[in-house]
Amino acid sequence: MPKPSVYDILNKKRRGEALTDFEITAVVTGFTWGGIPDYQMSALLMAIAIQGMTTREQAALMRAMLESGERWNLRARFDFLADKHSTGGVGDKVSLALAPWVASCGIHIAMLSGRGLGHTGGTLDKLESIPGFNAHLTRDEIERCLADVGCAITTSTEGIAPADRKLYALRDVTGTVESIPLITASIMSKKLALGPSALILDVKCGAGAFMKSEDEALELARSLLSAARGTGTTAEALVTRIDAPLGRAVGNANEVIEAMDILRGDGPEDVTTLVLALATRILVMSGRFDESSARTTLEEAVRSGRAIEHARRWIEAQGGDAEVVDHPKRLPSPSRTLEVKAARSGYVHAIDPYGVGMLAIRLGAGREKKEDSIDYAAGILFERVTGDRVAAGDTLARVQIGSREVEEADELSAKLADLIRIDNLAPERRPLIVEHLTGTPSEGRRSNEGQPGHRPRL
Ligand code: URA
Repeated sequence: MPKPSVYDILNKKRRGEALTDFEITAVVTGFTWGGIPDYQMSALLMAIAIQGMTTREQAALMRAMLESGERWNLRARFDFLADKHSTGGVGDKVSLALAPWVASCGIHIAMLSGRGLGHTGGTLDKLESIPGFNAHLTRDEIERCLADVGCAITTSTEGIAPADRKLYALRDVTGTVESIPLITASIMSKKLALGPSALILDVKCGAGAFMKSEDEALELARSLLSAARGTGTTAEALVTRIDAPLGRAVGNANEVIEAMDILRGDGPEDVTTLVLALATRILVMSGRFDESSARTTLEEAVRSGRAIEHARRWIEAQGGDAEVVDHPKRLPSPSRTLEVKAARSGYVHAIDPYGVGMLAIRLGAGREKKEDSIDYAAGILFERVTGDRVAAGDTLARVQIGSREVEEADELSAKLADLIRIDNLAPERRPLIVEHLTGTPSEGRRSNEGQPGHRPRL
């Protein structure tokens, strides 16, 4: 077949016409190996972001990106291997608790995770606050960790989906990140390269998420599930709300402490509910449990101490200081804290998660520029969360100053107070879990879990 002209391909997409599988593969391969310049690829990405893609084009794009690199097919080695992906939220420490919890129930789980993106924190940054923790495992090390302790969380390797790495760097600077076909191909090319048996997706919506509305999040969830069809990986998605920071801790070391609290049964209600819901689906997807036995098994793992013991073993297997589980002072700790007090009495009506995420970055808990280093001890701890009743003068939150002094600390504390809205009326409680979608088209159901008042029994 003659080599298609990139110029013709991008014009075709600009006019809104569908590209063929051959054209998509040619353009992804050409760009990955340097034959297509950034300016032509940028133009094509913008045309895709504006015109969208058909399901077939999207599948071809995902396949071309997946095939640009190594495919590990880990499910061939482990009877059942799970993976989980979250589209990211402020205070999202779910993976840190989910991996050892699921592994403590005999289910293998491996995750290739990322660093902080925009206002949301990154799982790898949080894990690297643990002294010695190695988040750069080789494939052999991942397999050894899985064989020894049943779980591993690490960064992606150079060999996985190189097309995505190059494309994402370009999207990041050309305003083309927020495109459902491009997001789908990016996420799924990396996830499917690992070759898990099952993938659970946590697609977030609300003020703290990239997708603000439920409809947008549902569209992304359906798109991600459709990309998994026919690949040998079973996928399900929970669409979950993030209207406030998840849990009470936002930062890095403080989120590790909170994740360990979840595994002891002492975690905040919202984040515990979410981890339990995702873990339950993973256990059910393994085919070894039904919904009820999955929950009972997970709850028993916490009650018996098996889940927290598994966290110690996992951290040690990845080279980290497992003593942090029982002695959190071994983690980087704040040099000082500033208390944010309630100016009036009433109910905590709302906490702006986007504002909190941006404020955490200013404290050093996230990056303003890619090359910035993280101050692992910096962050925010909420004493009160949405729905709590407060009296004037009560402490609402603590701003944690890490190892670097922050000149505008007082100003940031005042800003945090502005992000916590107090009202006379209690806020309406909205369900955390909006929808549960399975991989079969049109199958979606409202879930009971995550509804107000549905507290996990740990
Ligand atoms: N995360 C990814 O890995 N890719 C995207 O495009 C967006 C979020």
